[in-house]
Amino acid sequence: MSESVLLALRGASFAYEDGPPVLGGLDFEVREGRALALLGRNGSGKTTLMRLLSGGLRPDDGELTVEGRPVRYDRTGLTALRTTVQLVVQDPDDQLFAASVGQDVSFGPLNLGLSDTEVRARVAESLAALDITALADRPTHLLSYGQRKRTAIAGAVAMRPRVLILDEPTAGLDPDGQERLLATLDGLRENGTTVVMATHDVDLALRWADDAALLTPSGAHTGPAADVLARTDLLAAAGLRLPWGVAVGRLLRAQGLVTGSAVGPRSPEELAALVTASVTGGDAHVP
Ligand SMILES: Nc1ncnc2c1ncn2[C@@H]1O[C@H](COP(=O)(O)OP(=O)(O)O)[C@@H](O)[C@H]1O
Ligand SMILES: [Mg+2]
Repeated sequence: MSESVLLALRGASFAYEDGPPVLGGLDFEVREGRALALLGRNGSGKTTLMRLLSGGLRPDDGELTVEGRPVRYDRTGLTALRTTVQLVVQDPDDQLFAASVGQDVSFGPLNLGLSDTEVRARVAESLAALDITALADRPTHLLSYGQRKRTAIAGAVAMRPRVLILDEPTAGLDPDGQERLLATLDGLRENGTTVVMATHDVDLALRWADDAALLTPSGAHTGPAADVLARTDLLAAAGLRLPWGVAVGRLLRAQGLVTGSAVGPRSPEELAALVTASVTGGDAHVP
C-alpha cells in the first residue's frame, strides 16, 4: 500500500449531542486509488465516520486532513472539501430534492459557480457514467428506487470528486441492480476516482475492494481486503462472519483439494476455476 494518503482522520472523537461517544481517538486513512470497503455492525459508526470524512460533521477532538493539510470548516474550506470528497447518503430520498433528474444533478456544479456550458458538460458526463442519460428530464418522484440511487450518485459524480464515499450503496437493490452498480463503480475507479463504500456484506467487500476497514470498539483495522477479511478475531469483534469464499478456500486447502497460498475464492467464477484446476490436476492458482 504505497499509494499516498489522500484523506485522513487523526485522533478523531465524536459524540452526537447528548449522546455517548460514537468514535473515540480514531485514526483512519483513505489512500488514493484504492477501493476501500468500510465494514462494521449496525450502529458501529460507519455513517458517522463517513460524515466526518466528508465534512458534514466535525470531530469534537482530532482533525481531518486532505493530503496532510487540516480542513478548515469555514465556507472556503468546506467548498474546497466538497470538490475533493462527495458523500452519497444511504437513502436517496434524503439527497434528491429537485423536480427532475437533470436539475438535481446540476445543482452541485451550479453552486460551484461554473458556467452553463461547463455545468451542462458535467451533467451529461455524470448521467452517462451512471447510465441514466435517458432519465434526464424525468421527474424525480416518478423514479424507481434503483433509479433514485443512481441519480443521487450522479449528483455526487458531477462534482468530480477525487473521493466518492457511498453509504451502503447496494442496500435495497435487486441482484441485477447490484451488479450494474458495481460495474458503474468499476468505471469510476478506472477513471481515477477513489471509491469508499460502507457495507456489512463481507462477500461483496472481498470481491470488490482493494482494502477493507473493520470498525470495532477498539478502532478501525485497515489492510488489504483478502487479509483483513480472513481475520476471524477482527471479524468477530466487528460482529461480522467470515466471507464464504474464505471459508470455502480454507476447507478446500485443509482437505488438500487445492494448494497454494492464493486468497479466496472471491467469487463463484474463482471457485469454479479452483475446483476445475484441482480436478484436472493443473495449477490451482487463483488469478
Ligand atoms: N443523528 C443522530 N443523533 C444521535 N445519535 C445518532 C445519530 N446518528 C447516529 N447516532 C448513533 O450513533 C451510533 C453510530 O451510528 P451510525 O454512525 O449510524 O452507525 P452505522 O452506520 O454503522 O450503523 C449509533 O449508536 C446511533 O444510534
Ligand atoms: Mg449507517
